[in-house]
Amino acid sequence: MPASSLESIVSLSKRRGIIFPSSAIYGGLGSTWDYGPLGVELKNNVKRAWWRSVVHERDDMEGLDAAILMNRLVWKYSGHEATFSDPMTDCRVCRARPRADHLFLAQKGREPKGLPEINAAIAARELKCPKCGSTDLTEARPFNLMFKTTVGAVDTGDESALAYLRPETAQGIFVNFGNVLDTMRRKLPFGIAQIGKAFRNEITPGNFTFRTREFEQMEIEYFVKPGEDEAAHQAWIDARTAWYHDLGLRPENLRQREQEKHELAHYAKRCVDLEYRFPMGWSELEGIANRTDFDLLAHSRGPSNPDSLEELRYFDPEQKKHIVPYVIEPSAGADRATLAFLCDAYEEALVKEPPEAETAKLKELVGSFARSVEKRDKLDPDVKARLLASAAAIEAGLPGTLPALLGLGDDPEANRIEVFKKVRGVADKLGEEFTRTVLRLDPRLAPISAAVFPLKKNEPRLVELARSIKRDLQAEGIHTVYDDTGAIGKLYRRQDEIGTPYCLTVDFQSLEDGTVTVRDRDTMAQQRAGRGELAALVKPKRRAPR
Ligand code: GAP
Repeated sequence: MPASSLESIVSLSKRRGIIFPSSAIYGGLGSTWDYGPLGVELKNNVKRAWWRSVVHERDDMEGLDAAILMNRLVWKYSGHEATFSDPMTDCRVCRARPRADHLFLAQKGREPKGLPEINAAIAARELKCPKCGSTDLTEARPFNLMFKTTVGAVDTGDESALAYLRPETAQGIFVNFGNVLDTMRRKLPFGIAQIGKAFRNEITPGNFTFRTREFEQMEIEYFVKPGEDEAAHQAWIDARTAWYHDLGLRPENLRQREQEKHELAHYAKRCVDLEYRFPMGWSELEGIANRTDFDLLAHSRGPSNPDSLEELRYFDPEQKKHIVPYVIEPSAGADRATLAFLCDAYEEALVKEPPEAETAKLKELVGSFARSVEKRDKLDPDVKARLLASAAAIEAGLPGTLPALLGLGDDPEANRIEVFKKVRGVADKLGEEFTRTVLRLDPRLAPISAAVFPLKKNEPRLVELARSIKRDLQAEGIHTVYDDTGAIGKLYRRQDEIGTPYCLTVDFQSLEDGTVTVRDRDTMAQQRAGRGELAALVKPKRRAPR
């Protein structure tokens, strides 16, 4: 079972150096996160796997790393200056500032047709503030999501030095279309891939790293002849889905969602979202759009763009004429993909059964928690039903449901019930001893590939052998760590929690015959292997699907 709550991922990430809240020593900055020592390895592995798959392993792709700061005209002609905005309204009573289109959808049950329809509903007092319920809302105004900055040492006070932090990496690719085409002597179809930071002043960031104001994108613009666009689009939808499957995302947690006509961006002919079943529900992981010839035309010199110095087109040797290619855009988020892999890999599992008396005590406590929930008349009926259903399933399944009970420990509603503190106390204690948290990451994504331990840290011969095995593996390009800061059982638990596929223990037998114990993260099976076999054994490779 993947993570049932984002809290368990947030807490593991903080505890084990994967992701920290940013600027925490100054009280933090809402929805900004820093990748710690293990998080940066994980995210780099995600990005490397993407790059390998879409650039190195294909013959029709090139890479690019364009600047974050670009000429402001890029954002004028891309349409972002005029249209990259969310409609906001202010509540005159409580000062809340909700997104007006979200209010419309939630309260009228359908998407609004545009700003005028939203404002008509506000004027007719049909929309309510989600915080205080007032209908006294201001007219909705568009709020542009691009972060502004100024370029150069002199602040001229006018807009001549204005620049934006790019809100997507895609435009850097479009404006380099001609450069790549000419220098790499490409013929259609071909594509350009780029990984890089993007910035959006999101109104409602949240859900950990799912929606932030600074994030990383992994984008492809794939250029094809018009008429060949639909087949290429479908091929990319299939290829990108296969990439997530290959890296271990469970098929039942990944789905393709066809965008409906009214959702499509004005330039898109078709768009399919790849959605992942995050703990907060199905949400977009990647969008794969057919953008037609919109972008290359928009940036090409012509009557509607006198500022561009180029015509972004392609000479088709078969037709013997210039054409404007169509563009297929698979656009993924590196942070979202990393979060999805983390959620999917997270597992709390029972490793051995606690004594019967302990299980009976816990059952009794869960039963009294359920009775206490039952008596709460003021509890929201949905919350009540959810807590009662969880308690009943957990009580019936103990001790096998101990991991689920530990997961319930992250639920704020459960924690509001007094007796739950007692349940948690006993469950946490049993959890320490009888369960383990394991990140079943694909070995190619795991932050560390192998960990080497000496059985005794005060035995110099064991320490030296363990350290030299670490050096050997590192020289083979396998990210390996040495650790002697605890008993072997504790070290296994720590490596399980961060997803290390193999632990190697050097013991006295190793000194005699050169073999070490290799312990597998997923099966916990142990085998002895000779030093010469280790690199082949632990080298990151695909695991059989779960
Ligand atoms: N060039 C097209 C484009 O940018 P998008 O759907 O706005 O399309 C593409 O973004 C992907 O970038 C999303 O599927 C998501 O993975 C990621 N992304 C977008 N906004 C994000 C945010 N605020 N925080 C984290 N990731 C984000």
